[in-house]
Amino acid sequence: MTSKWAGRCESCGAWNTLSEEVARPAAAGGLGKAKRKGKGAELVGLAGESERDARLETGITEFDRVCGGGLVSGSALLVGGDPGIGKSTLLLQVAAAVARLGRSAVYISGEEAIAQIRMRGRRLNLSDAPVNLATTTDVREIVATLSTDPPPALAIIDSIQTMYIDTLESAPGTVGQVRASAQELIRIAKANGTAVILVGHVTKEGQIAGPRVLEHMVDTVLYFEGERGHQFRILRAVKNRFGASDEIGVFEMTDRGLSEVPNPSALFLANRAEQVSGAAVFAGIEGTRPVLLEIQALISPTSFSTPRRAVVGWDSGRLAMVLAVLEARCGVALAGKDVYLNVAGGLRIAEPAADLAVAAALLSSLADRPVPADTVVFGEIGLAGEVRMVSQADLRLKEAAKLGFTRAFIPGGLKQRQQSLDVREMQRLSDLVDHFSD
Ligand SMILES: Nc1ncnc2c1ncn2[C@@H]1O[C@H](COP(=O)(O)OP(=O)(O)O)[C@@H](O)[C@H]1O
Ligand SMILES: [Mg+2]
Repeated sequence: MTSKWAGRCESCGAWNTLSEEVARPAAAGGLGKAKRKGKGAELVGLAGESERDARLETGITEFDRVCGGGLVSGSALLVGGDPGIGKSTLLLQVAAAVARLGRSAVYISGEEAIAQIRMRGRRLNLSDAPVNLATTTDVREIVATLSTDPPPALAIIDSIQTMYIDTLESAPGTVGQVRASAQELIRIAKANGTAVILVGHVTKEGQIAGPRVLEHMVDTVLYFEGERGHQFRILRAVKNRFGASDEIGVFEMTDRGLSEVPNPSALFLANRAEQVSGAAVFAGIEGTRPVLLEIQALISPTSFSTPRRAVVGWDSGRLAMVLAVLEARCGVALAGKDVYLNVAGGLRIAEPAADLAVAAALLSSLADRPVPADTVVFGEIGLAGEVRMVSQADLRLKEAAKLGFTRAFIPGGLKQRQQSLDVREMQRLSDLVDHFSD
């Protein structure tokens, strides 16, 4: 520390590294005996009526469900995702849906020109919707725009990385700017009762200043995901103060924009080849909804000194565990074999309930015998080789029955029986191994 101007730091010798900090004069008597008394916060009871419970349903069902039943006024949402995944498209559709309901929707872009946004609007057939557009990157200007009477019901800021606030000297997109701009926009959301949606780009590494630093500031965090080569997109809630997290909405990217997929299981299973070895249908739960997916495995002799283990859409640590249990508890020889695992359709699953379906796909590939036709599989595998019951088994079986499946390999101990399914209970992983070896 130095009390006068200096170009060079005395302690480390570096030039131009000092920054000025202005000390506030201490209150008389010092901090310990500060005279200034704070005004107490008003205390209220837990019961009582508050406004703001009203939900603004956009009518885009997949979007509303992920939000927990529509947008909450005065709340802040963050929609993150890779560049080009479809965030601007989705949110223009949301803005148009709200505007068509007769509520005021403002769409502010810091990335695209009005002409570009209008062109997108025409392509998506939204031109008739009375959305209010603006292009600016100045947060002060945005705050003034949103302080109308009455304030807008919805404001979309695309994207938070392009916004800047002139009280900070750093460039747009830096952590400080992103945080300060968001803070100001969230404040205006709470003050006016406007639902504010911030768009944030993430890179694959998640490194760019943006969504990550904002996650704790906003009420709801949604990530828009999908493989570029696949046409469908998943909107996933990773945090929600107003609904279940882990909820997903499924959309299909078309030249007319994002269309809703009300029955994702049918979509995920659409291109399934009949009766090939190495494939098993997993009955999973995404958020509050059951989703059926195909898990594909391929086991082949290796030509490497260390066999390859490649996974797409599942946790590689989890695969290693299933392989280890197969080897150690069931005597399945996997050394000297490459293992490839893929969740078809580009969805990522995180549930341990997929263990048994993964094992079924692996064993089916190894034995070169298809899993019996029209069979769904789920169950968690323990290290001792036991198969454990998972949550919401009924819901999973019901979805399977609805889609025409007739058989299920599941853990033992199910209380309620789904009438239309032929259920085979597996107490241990070796029961499944026996199925493929007899
Ligand atoms: N004229 C077009 N016809 C069909 N699809 C288009 C057209 N223009 C853009 N797209 C699709 O929209 C995507 C861009 O979406 P966008 O909403 O701008 O993404 P983000 O805002 O997440 O960067 C592109 O990846 C492309 O697939
Ligand atoms: Mg965009």
